[in-house]
This record gives sequence, structure tokens and C-alpha cells, in this order.
Amino acid sequence: MGTDGNSTSSTHNQTGYANPQANGHRHELFHSDAMFAAAISVTSVILVLVVCLIIVLSRRLQSTGKNRRSDGNHRIGVSYSVQNSVHYSSSPEVKSGCLSGGASISLASAGLSRGNRRVQVYSYKELEAATNGFSEANVIGDGGFGVVYRGMLSDRTVAAIKKLHLEGKQGERAFRIEVDLQSRLHSPYLVELLGYCADQNHRLLVFEYMPHGGLQHHLHSPSTQCKPLDWGTRLRIALDCAMGLEFLHEHTIPSVIHRDFKCSNVLLDHDFRAKVSDFGLAKMGSDKINGQISTRVLGTTGYLAPEYASTGNLTTKSDVYSYGVVLLELLTGRVPVDSKRPPGEHVLVSWALPRLTNRDKVVEMVDPTLKGNYPKKELIQVAAIAAVCVQPEADYRPLMVDIVQSLIPLVRNYISISSSPSLRIQSSAVSPGY
Ligand SMILES: Nc1ncnc2c1ncn2[C@@H]1O[C@H](COP(=O)(O)OP(=O)(O)O)[C@@H](O)[C@H]1O
Ligand SMILES: [Mg+2]
Repeated sequence: MGTDGNSTSSTHNQTGYANPQANGHRHELFHSDAMFAAAISVTSVILVLVVCLIIVLSRRLQSTGKNRRSDGNHRIGVSYSVQNSVHYSSSPEVKSGCLSGGASISLASAGLSRGNRRVQVYSYKELEAATNGFSEANVIGDGGFGVVYRGMLSDRTVAAIKKLHLEGKQGERAFRIEVDLQSRLHSPYLVELLGYCADQNHRLLVFEYMPHGGLQHHLHSPSTQCKPLDWGTRLRIALDCAMGLEFLHEHTIPSVIHRDFKCSNVLLDHDFRAKVSDFGLAKMGSDKINGQISTRVLGTTGYLAPEYASTGNLTTKSDVYSYGVVLLELLTGRVPVDSKRPPGEHVLVSWALPRLTNRDKVVEMVDPTLKGNYPKKELIQVAAIAAVCVQPEADYRPLMVDIVQSLIPLVRNYISISSSPSLRIQSSAVSPGY
């Protein structure tokens, strides 16, 4: 190529335009030059096309791969969500006295949702009729957010109807969160929201009725109607609660932090199986900043994790701490804070923590109403779980999933074949081995 170029330029320089021979030669040269240039440009165009084609093809292949991978994930996600996880995004809004949005969302998780059951909207009049005009005789509880009535709905379902106090923004916020979350989260370990009423200024929540009420009555206010809970029942309650919190932490997207896990929010069914209730203070993991949620400190004294109480930094480990306190209540029968006890014993966690890992001392702290009816080996194991849950350092606390796995072998000994809750364990894929 270099030689040809040189010869062309020398011919041009030496002969000028008047030399026809030279012109003919030049013409030939021009001709071959043009052919050559054309060949080069055709080749380059083909090359460019080939390169483009390769790029397009490789992109297509990549995207197909991604799709396949995400399809795979999606499939895992779906089968997971059918059995275990729930995705949610929108919040309900109160529009002209009626909640819309989240409340009517059809449920993503058929396995956990008992089909596509929708949360009912009730009028104030319907709930007034269900509770005999909110009569005193129907009151079954009086909590931080309102009075709870036993009522019978028009379809003859017995329900617990919570009439919220609406002082301040917190009540309205609690109502919205409760409806929003509970209309989407369905697990055998969470108390089911049947419906709600947002008529004018009234805010009421309608829950499945739990015949044995709150765990705190059975542990802390034993009466003639309320026999002390035996060891096996306590273990099952501990596992049911752990599964409820595991569901919130691990099987919802984003994860949910209960923030008010305590004895009175553990409700018992006809067979003393436990479900977690009250999501009015719950926080979603999507509110995280740098892995933590910075928030106003709400909750109940005696159950608050130290780092949350002092800095407002909330993580799922705050629930693990509260769970540890409930586990201590189940073990000792003591309330979390009791100023009537001797000095050094006021705060349950501070009193219990140094004793929990001492084999002799742990026996001394067991609830006297158990009258020694428990296997010591199991006591030591449960005490060890409680000890890690109430560690002052959040990172040292286990995940709820670990607690569930530790409790399953202990509880297996106490599941009666006839009891219906064992069916709910089978039907839930949260921990299939249980
Ligand atoms: N779904 C329910 N079924 C039966 N009893 C319930 C139900 N919900 C609440 N209660 C009773 O009402 C009491 C007060 O409940 P709640 O308003 O949630 O108050 P708290 O702030 O103490 O958790 C509970 O301890 C329990 O005895
Ligand atoms: Mg409650």
C-alpha cells in the first residue's frame, strides 16, 4: 500500500496532467484506488455491523440470563411468599370516614391468608349492636390505646372489639398502622384482624376473639378461674411467640419490628396456644437509615432494649430483647419491674441475668407455682436462651429464627396429637420440622 501511494504521487509530480499515458495510468491507479477504498469501506461497514450485532446479541443474552435469574428468584420469592413471606408497599388512607388502600388489598400469601379473605369495614352502629351498646358487661380489657369489648357480629362470629381513645395523633397513627399491617400480614402466630370501623370520629378494630385473653393474667394475676400454666404450655407459648416475631422479622418484606412485644400482647386461644397482637407501634424495616431506625422511644417500661431506650435506635434486636423479658416472665412468674420486691430485685432482667447461667441459682428463680414440675435440663436450656436475648449489647442477641430452632426440639415433647394447633404448625411452612 505504501509503495502504491508513493508511485502515484511521483507520477503526478513528474508528468503533470498533459500526459495522456500518464493520465491513463493515473486513471487505472484511480480506479484501483477507488476499488480499494470501496472494499475497505464495505469491509469496515460489515465489521461495524458485525460488532453491533455481537453487542446486541451479547446484551440480549445477558438480559435473558438476568431474566432467567430473576425468574428463578421470582419463583423462589413466590413459592416463599405463598408459604412464608408477605410483600407490601402502600398505606391505607382515611377518606371520608372510610379507610381505603391497604385494607382492601387482596392477599399475596394464600398459604397464610386463609384464602383471599378481606378485612371487613363495619359501621359504628353494627359494632354498637355487637357489643350491646358497648356495655360494661362486655368489657374484657382496657389497654393503652382503648377499651376492648367482647362482641357478637351479625354473622354470629364472636370478636374482640377495640374502641380506640383518639386523644393525640398517636391513636390515629396506631389505628392506621394496625389496619395497614394486619390486613396484609397473615400468620397462625398473629392475632387476625377481622375488620375495622372508621365512621366519622370513631376508630374501632375488630379482632379474632382469643378466649383465654392476655398471657399476663395467667402469669401475674392467677385466680380460681386462672390455673397456673404448666411447663409444657409455657414452652409452647414461648415457641408460638418466637414464631410470630420470626414471621415479622424474616418473612415480611420489608421486615416489621413490633416495638411493643410484652405479656399483655400475647393472647391465648381456647387451647392456650399463643398469638402476638397489637401492631399499633410497629415499624417497618423500610424506615431504616444506615441499618437502623431512629425513632421516638415508645413501648412499655421493663421491655425496652437498653440501646433503644437510650438512643431511640430501633432494630429487630429490640424485639428480641422484649422477647427475652417475656421468656423471663414465663420462667420466673415475675413482672418486668416490681418496686415491691427487695432492693436488687426490682428490675427482672438485672436480677435474673447473673443467675441464668448458674445451674443452681437458675433453679431458685423458677416460678414457685410450677411446684418443681419441669425437667431441669429443659430449664437450663430455656434459661440460656433468655440470657442471650436480654444481652445489653444488641449484636450478641440471637435472631428470632435461631430462638425458634432452639425451642423446637424442647416443645416437640409437649405437642399433643389431638390438639388442633399442631395442625396449624403443619400448615405453616415457617418451620416445617416443628
Ligand atoms: N383479641 C382479643 N381477644 C381476647 N381478649 C383480648 C383481645 N385483645 C385484647 N384482649 C384483652 O384486652 C386486654 C387489653 O388489650 P390491649 O388493649 O391490647 O391492651 P394492652 O395495651 O395492655 O396490650 C388484653 O390484655 C386482653 O386481656
Ligand atoms: Mg395489647
